Amino acid sequence: MGIVISGTKLASIRKERLKEAIIEAKMKYDRAPKLAVILVGNDVGSLSYVKGKEKAALEVGIDITTYHYNDDVSEKEIEDKIISLNYDNKVDGILVQLPLPNHIKQDKIIDLISPLKDVDGFHPYNVASLYLKHEGILPCTPKGVIALLDSKNIQIEGKRAVVVGRSNIVGMPLAKMLLDRNATVTICHSKTKNLEQITSEADILIACLGKPKFIKEYMVKEGATVIDVGINRDKETNKLCGDVDFINVEPKTSYITKVPGGVGPMTICCLLENTYIAYLNQFKRS
Ligand code: GUN
Repeated sequence: MGIVISGTKLASIRKERLKEAIIEAKMKYDRAPKLAVILVGNDVGSLSYVKGKEKAALEVGIDITTYHYNDDVSEKEIEDKIISLNYDNKVDGILVQLPLPNHIKQDKIIDLISPLKDVDGFHPYNVASLYLKHEGILPCTPKGVIALLDSKNIQIEGKRAVVVGRSNIVGMPLAKMLLDRNATVTICHSKTKNLEQITSEADILIACLGKPKFIKEYMVKEGATVIDVGINRDKETNKLCGDVDFINVEPKTSYITKVPGGVGPMTICCLLENTYIAYLNQFKRS
């Protein structure tokens, strides 16, 4: 029987702590942290993610403004908005909800965000900071996964960690963070041969490939810790599900996360924490 690591619970504890820190900081600095969100179009997933971020930010005392554009907005208009937000010293964090429509170049937009306000940790400066172990803003989902492991004192050092998925947002930075914690890390992807043989060796298995219920019980070592980053819609039930076939995998694990209620709430929590860090840094600089 695997112990379910609840992201909902951990996020709630950390948000409560953050809320108290923000109450104190507001007295010192005379204003609340502020996050600006840029949302383009009406993709149902993106609308729902942004709503979740707005609700969570308000709960902890972070001011949040969403700039919502039609999906035919020009690239220039988004660029101008980012430039003005970069210059606004009452804005601490800037988040561009992805994906953007095809006519807007995602890389160009992310490159334009001030690295100091890039609370997603997607700017090349922050990506490089992670790889060079410089101080920068860490991406929210990988940071949340490490926090989930640490919350149960799951040993990372010396363990075999397998990350299935190699996105710039999750798989790659998470592999680096696990490596920095002295795990032996393997990254698997769609062209990996003998995938199940590799995943079966994992003490810590991270599923972040975006395929519903892809990780089956025969792919998991007895007693492994399994972290499910996927958020998919199950075609049969129309319910949310992860990348792990939870019902069948759970009995083989020591620890496991669920979808929903696992990594998702931690991603939002880490976004709020990053916004608070960017806010404190803004005052340190001035
Ligand atoms: N779209 C899906 N996940 C994310 C995320 O973590 N940040 C942003 N900005 N967009 C996303």
